[in-house]
Amino acid sequence: MELRTGQVAVVTGAASGIGLALAEAFAERGLAVALVDVEATPLAAAEARLRERGSTVLAARVDVSNAGAVEALAERVDTELGGAQILCNNAGVGGDFRAVWEQSLEGWEWVLGVNLWGVIHGIRSFVPRMLAAGEPAHVVNTASIAGVMSMPLGSPYHVSKHGVVTLSESMAFELRQHKAPIGVSVLCPGYVRTGIADAGRNRPDALRGEAASAEEERWVDQIRRVLAQGTPPGEVATCVLEAIEAERFYVFSHPEWLESAGARFRALLAQEPPVWSIPPRALEPR
Ligand SMILES: NC(=O)c1ccc[n+]([C@@H]2O[C@H](COP(=O)([O-])OP(=O)(O)OC[C@H]3O[C@@H](n4cnc5c(N)ncnc54)[C@H](O)[C@@H]3O)[C@@H](O)[C@H]2O)c1
Repeated sequence: MELRTGQVAVVTGAASGIGLALAEAFAERGLAVALVDVEATPLAAAEARLRERGSTVLAARVDVSNAGAVEALAERVDTELGGAQILCNNAGVGGDFRAVWEQSLEGWEWVLGVNLWGVIHGIRSFVPRMLAAGEPAHVVNTASIAGVMSMPLGSPYHVSKHGVVTLSESMAFELRQHKAPIGVSVLCPGYVRTGIADAGRNRPDALRGEAASAEEERWVDQIRRVLAQGTPPGEVATCVLEAIEAERFYVFSHPEWLESAGARFRALLAQEPPVWSIPPRALEPR
């Protein structure tokens, strides 16, 4: 769909990282933006920055894992901005680096709550409104390259992202069957320079689970170092805006990872044991 001044974009996880870059890119194109995040201070800073640039902004402190809060957000967007044409279900958290059987119930609940239920709630609250409006609209769900391949450790994250990919595919089929003017994209990035390695900053106390071991802390440190060399979020946002305008479904902002995903599918087709790999290019500084 064509992006135009006067349209409204809702972006979750908009206070930092990829979400903030998306919000800035939409605002740059003249769209009004609803910034949605659970973290108050960076959310207020993002709101102030966009307002200074003259953008129309609604900042909402919402936990996307809470269905009622997301529904109230959709009502607010209707009342204050006249409804949304773009929805980016982007908020996400990392989770613990443990074997599947060592993952705590709290860890599963936290990661699936934000990464998968957050996307489900966004779709359930906003897509019916988009359908009723009958105008061109677009939904972008942020998955990950972790949504099309599997790796050891971090299973809640992988499960959540595979879930986001498959529900995005289902929704694309269904909207096409309904001849709805609503496009869908699923964003599957590789390493991006963001604060996701420190996602625990937003973890509710009730979902803390067992503290990380020294070995887990070392894993997180390594991820932090890799992400610090990752792609700047603005480049990912550019890929997303291009995909919306080109009506592209899969958004692989890091094509070097496709070979790793391809190896998984080849093993699957050959009914061989699963394989995984990290492409060397993914570890090079950007
Ligand atoms: N950084 C990467 O390398 C990478 C790679 C692939 C996919 N992703 C995905 O990109 C998305 C954005 O992550 P990022 O890398 O920009 O990380 P980030 O930590 O910089 O941004 C995530 C944002 O989500 C917010 N958030 C966390 N829990 C929330 C909740 N319950 N409700 C509302 N907001 C909440 C955080 O406050 C934060 O502002 C995530 O879905 C992540 O899984 C990131």
